[in-house]
Amino acid sequence: MKIAPELWLPNRTDKLPADIAYLREKYPRETWDEHRNFGETAAFWLQMHDMFRELGGMLKSATHQFREDAIAPDDFHRFFTPRLRYFLQHLEGHHQVEDYNYFPLFRSHDKRLIVGFDLLEEDHEVIHDQLAASAETARAMLAALHEEGDARRFAADAYANKSDKLLDWLLRHLDDEEDLVIPSILEHTEGALFGR
Ligand SMILES: [Fe+2]
Ligand SMILES: [Fe+2]
Repeated sequence: MKIAPELWLPNRTDKLPADIAYLREKYPRETWDEHRNFGETAAFWLQMHDMFRELGGMLKSATHQFREDAIAPDDFHRFFTPRLRYFLQHLEGHHQVEDYNYFPLFRSHDKRLIVGFDLLEEDHEVIHDQLAASAETARAMLAALHEEGDARRFAADAYANKSDKLLDWLLRHLDDEEDLVIPSILEHTEGALFGR
């Protein structure tokens, strides 16, 4: 799919245009969980997204503390490493389930959603590449954990550079995806979309 440059995730600074997220106006975010069609899948979807937001924020603030020398290298390592691994693995898994299991169901149920879900799938590719870059710089940062001075600082700066972008793009993506997914569920019902 050829997407407009301003809609490409690294360039996107605002929510999706109303012709793509065409049900957003009809179902305002603050009314979602009170709607009678708000089911288990919708609730779980939002929970997963909140988990990524929260964990992403924790990793970012731990990295910030480490760069400010406010946390000892070994304490940082203990806190950061398992959480980063969990974050990266689950994010990849989450996107795969969306790409292969869920997005095709939305597209085939409602043709007006094709453009939006193609765009979200493109977002996943951008995020995937940034995730790989982020993981690579994280490894270099952890390898330089006990180095003194510049080497440690440069490695931490390189990781922060990649991971801050990753988180910014992910937060944009999560909001935009919710604006497509949840109103579609409310409009069509989980039963009609997912066959249950
Ligand atoms: Fe997604
Ligand atoms: Fe998602």
